[in-house]
Amino acid sequence: MEWYKVSGVILASALIAMLSGKVADTLVDPTMPMEAALSVADAPPAPAAAKPQAVAVDISGALVMLASADAGKGAKIAKKCASCHSFNKGGKNKVGPNLWNIVNKSKASVDGYKYSKALSGYGGAWDWDALNGFLANPKAYVKGTKMAYAGLKKDGDRAAMLVYLRSLSETPADLPN
Ligand code: HEC
Repeated sequence: MEWYKVSGVILASALIAMLSGKVADTLVDPTMPMEAALSVADAPPAPAAAKPQAVAVDISGALVMLASADAGKGAKIAKKCASCHSFNKGGKNKVGPNLWNIVNKSKASVDGYKYSKALSGYGGAWDWDALNGFLANPKAYVKGTKMAYAGLKKDGDRAAMLVYLRSLSETPADLPN
């Protein structure tokens, strides 16, 4: 036999050995004692696992922190948003709308920006609760939003972001009581 045929045969048999090992593994766990392996077949089907409950995450901590939060830290965090948003007055809409004076503004109301149906149909204003909820998890807060951002998970980061957004206004909104 030529050398390549030999190596081909070796390769092929190695493959077959691997594959049959795999198949056997999936049929019967080789570490299982024989009786256990046999009784698996007779065991009644396992009850369907309970559906995992959605765990409500408490995000209200950020709102408590607003009074002491640092807008300068928020400005740094805003670099994560800046690929999609401008923050200055009269700034251009980019992938997302301009965010000047966004606190307490009606949702989806920046001129000249084309919002998703999900956000334009959502209603209400960007009050503290709404901004806090949206920024914690945009896709969970507005199902179907086109803002492709995972969210600011830390209360402290959101608090800093919120007071930074608040500072972007000639008449900054009152902090929540
Ligand atoms: C990958 C791009 C992207 C990033 C990053 C991003 N956004 Fe957005 N954002 C969008 C888009 C797109 C929309 C419009 C969503 C829609 O129409 O559903 C939006 C909408 C918003 C709105 C609602 C504006 C309005 O007029 O109703 C706010 C507030 C907002 N973003 C804040 C932020 C903040 C704060 C960050 C950073 C922590 C951020 N976004 C990061 C793309 C982005």
